[in-house]
Amino acid sequence: MTSERAPGQRWGRWLQDAASAGGTGGLNWHLHALASLKRWEETLSVIDGFLNRVSPPSDHLLLLGGSAGWMMPPAWLQRFRQIDAYDIDPLAPWLFKLRHGKSLKASGTDIRFHRADAIAGLPSLLKQHPQACIWFDNVLGQQRYRMGDEEVAERQLGQLQRLLRGREWGSLHDMYSGPTDAQTSAQRHPKTLTRAGTTLEPDEAQTQQLLQLLDAQGIWQDHATRVVFPPGTATQLIPWAFRPHYWHWLEAGWVKPSN
Ligand SMILES: C[S@@+](CC[C@H](N)C(=O)[O-])C[C@H]1O[C@@H](n2cnc3c(N)ncnc32)[C@H](O)[C@@H]1O
Repeated sequence: MTSERAPGQRWGRWLQDAASAGGTGGLNWHLHALASLKRWEETLSVIDGFLNRVSPPSDHLLLLGGSAGWMMPPAWLQRFRQIDAYDIDPLAPWLFKLRHGKSLKASGTDIRFHRADAIAGLPSLLKQHPQACIWFDNVLGQQRYRMGDEEVAERQLGQLQRLLRGREWGSLHDMYSGPTDAQTSAQRHPKTLTRAGTTLEPDEAQTQQLLQLLDAQGIWQDHATRVVFPPGTATQLIPWAFRPHYWHWLEAGWVKPSN
């Protein structure tokens, strides 16, 4: 019975992940990203600037949740000799190659794709690739949807710093997202903010400032990512017009083994 069902279950999961990756990616994400690249230009250029200031000594990158790399600057990827990309979305390798294949070929970067849960499997990935630096590419803020529970996601995300101790790593992730005022926020793009040091405790004044800057309306989601970086990590807070009237605040940071 089990062996008869297993291939069907595998295909069911494949299809689910190809369609939406549990609400975190898949075809849904690819079509939305393709249609939104123009509106995201300013956000992409800030991510580009952030990553280009990060120069890890390792020439091996573990790229986690990179999807097709819609928001990834090619020049940063080109600095690596080897990239191991992990994503649950079966469409990610084909689309990533379409978007970045040519420039990676030009830089001689060898990219290997793996279809796997990179968060649940992180301890083993770190052991398999002891010299690599790690980039969580807008994936950690999706955990609360994947786990279906904010508290479980926050507990899991809070373990990452310990698992990653001694490694060089960074993350771009959602902090908050929600609807914005239809009249104003579509026309203006607030500036990126810098945060001198992260704290595990919520900073209510800062949260209010972030919401006001985007003319937040209605109910906003907290992506439970406050616990990701070790306290004191300097980060950049980046506004992102995910949809014309539905914005996100992203956070980007990089942690060195000595942090
Ligand atoms: C918002 S998209 C990130 C997009 C990517 N940064 C880009 O530039 O296109 C989130 C990605 O994370 C992947 N993902 C979500 N949870 C994952 C997990 N636990 N392990 C591996 N990939 C995951 C999804 O399949 C999706 O491709």
